[in-house]
Amino acid sequence: MVLALVVYESLWGNTESVARAIADGIASTFGDDAVTVAEAGPDVGLDPDLALLVVGGPTHAFGMSSGATRESGRERGAPHLPDWGIREWIDALPSPGRAVRVAAFDTRTVSPRLPGSAAKKALKRLVARGFEPAAKARTFGVHGYEGPLADGELDSARAWGTELAAVVR
Ligand SMILES: Cc1cc2nc3c(=O)[nH]c(=O)nc-3n(C[C@H](O)[C@H](O)[C@H](O)COP(=O)(O)O)c2cc1C
Repeated sequence: MVLALVVYESLWGNTESVARAIADGIASTFGDDAVTVAEAGPDVGLDPDLALLVVGGPTHAFGMSSGATRESGRERGAPHLPDWGIREWIDALPSPGRAVRVAAFDTRTVSPRLPGSAAKKALKRLVARGFEPAAKARTFGVHGYEGPLADGELDSARAWGTELAAVVR
């Protein structure tokens, strides 16, 4: 039974690390078997028992990535070029048709501090789709474009996962 699903997009691996830390935090409440972490893609669907969906991606050009910004990331040396980002995954999601709580997070560069947040845009779309917000959109900082994550962000991500689990408990 999957109670929580954490879906991520990540070109350099920073957002994936945050996603896994959030899942650890959720698992500290519900147990490892109740949490799944998956890269956004056409095969990732919603389990009928799902209570909490967490979606995270890198902020690109002040919002969610697109095919063009992901290609631009590859040109800057990103080791992974996913076909789907969270934008495409959210757009392909069916309406949940029942109460499923949702949370969204992003990563973005701490210096220079730029406006815009992939998480805010993702959360807005997910709520429009019929999911119920469990928390405000959350940002985790990375150094430069490729990382590493700013100090303490993995601990913050784990703590946030525990907070999210408490909302649906
Ligand atoms: C094409 C492109 C556009 C970006 N635009 C922004 C931006 O608008 N704001 C920001 O803070 N960071 C921006 N970044 C930095 C990314 O947020 C950073 O690469 C990401 O958090 C790293 O996560 P990942 O390792 O999971 O890919 C951009 C990166 C790329 C490749």
